[in-house]
Amino acid sequence: MKIVTIIGARPQIIKAAALSRAVGNSGKDIHEVIIHTGQHYDENMSRVFFDELQIPHPDYNLNVGSGTHGEQTAKMMAGIEKILFDEKPDMLVVYGDTNSTLAGAVAAAKAHIPVAHIEAGLRSFNKSMPEEINRICCDHCSTLLFSPTKTGFDNLVREGFVQNTKKPFTIDRPGIYHCGDIMYDNSLHFAKIAEQESDIIESTGIKGKTFTLCTIHRDNNTDDPTRLNNIFNALNEISKKNDIVLPLHPRTKKMMAENLDAQLLSQTENNNRIHILPPVSFLDMIMLENKANLVLTDSGGVQKEAYFFKKPCVIMRRETEWVEIVETGAAALCDADKQTIIEKFHYFENKKDISFPAIFGDGKAAEFILDELIDNIERARIL
Ligand code: UD1
Ligand code: UDP
Repeated sequence: MKIVTIIGARPQIIKAAALSRAVGNSGKDIHEVIIHTGQHYDENMSRVFFDELQIPHPDYNLNVGSGTHGEQTAKMMAGIEKILFDEKPDMLVVYGDTNSTLAGAVAAAKAHIPVAHIEAGLRSFNKSMPEEINRICCDHCSTLLFSPTKTGFDNLVREGFVQNTKKPFTIDRPGIYHCGDIMYDNSLHFAKIAEQESDIIESTGIKGKTFTLCTIHRDNNTDDPTRLNNIFNALNEISKKNDIVLPLHPRTKKMMAENLDAQLLSQTENNNRIHILPPVSFLDMIMLENKANLVLTDSGGVQKEAYFFKKPCVIMRRETEWVEIVETGAAALCDADKQTIIEKFHYFENKKDISFPAIFGDGKAAEFILDELIDNIERARIL
């Protein structure tokens, strides 16, 4: 049995660790071929995760790099298609909603290779987001759709996907699942290892200090000068009483130089309570999430991980795909509005009675997904 896994952007490499681990532990005769599109390529956006999370190194790297959406996606599709013709896998696995996800799903669907989409059904209902286009197209090219949340599953049903379809599933009769979140599997698995191996708290000089973790990388925040200035004004205000640790995505680093007012950029860079770091490893990241008082972010994955570690989250976006965490009261949508970000920060800072009910499964989503992949491949072979 052969599956091809497509990765490319940082969060996909991390997510892939959970399924590769399940494949390794299964004792079954499954050959996983990993294609890295090369969408993310800096050492600290890619390689670091393979070593640290014990993910098998990619069998292929397309080295596509950065570019416009069309250029980047087209290069990926051409590279993936060629490998699919050579490898002839039983199934292709894609994660999330990036251009690598879209390229993999479209290339495989047209080569008549069934696609399993992990993180299916998530919607922001905002088609100005490139990720929303990617998710919708990918879901509608998929044969197995694994939604981490009930909301994601319901979104699929609303879009016409049918529940309880007979196996084996096909692209025209796809199967949909509500199965929990493989990112939760990973956080559970790696939290103890991070406690032993990460020294990020010491090396950042925040041991014994109250600090907030912040990440920013969403294109509509980084590429819009008004929004980026609002966010950094809010961070400087919050930092008057509270340290902030800010591992910087390369996109944000670049756009801060272009879009922040010169005075705000210099104020931020010289603010000794804003600890700007290069992108950190996953073990360092979950250590920071675990020890922070709360999290400020526009990242999808970091919103969820804040919840896994029972930390309130100020979401610097207008909407979220992870609506449950807002509905429970553990997170708040603040857009890129300076005042709302500051207000919600203080609200959560002082709120001690937040509850974090289980939303993301039991930490065994990857095993469930692998069993379903195998079952579908076996049934399709019998037919
Ligand atoms: C991409 C995904 C986004 C995801 C994010 C995770 C798309 C459309 N976007 O956004 O959904 O949340 O990854 O981090 O697929 N760069 C580097 N080094 C790298 C990678 C990127 O310097 O290793 C810089 C380049 O200037 C590049 C920019 O970051 O142009 C943006 O990279 P890109 O992969 O296009 O999009 P992300 O913003 O990373
Ligand atoms: N992450 C990391 N180092 C960092 C920032 C994020 O390891 O410096 C991890 C984070 O823990 C999560 C994933 O990257 O697992 C989220 O990726 P990102 O925020 O880039 O993208 P998104 O989830 O928004 O697509």
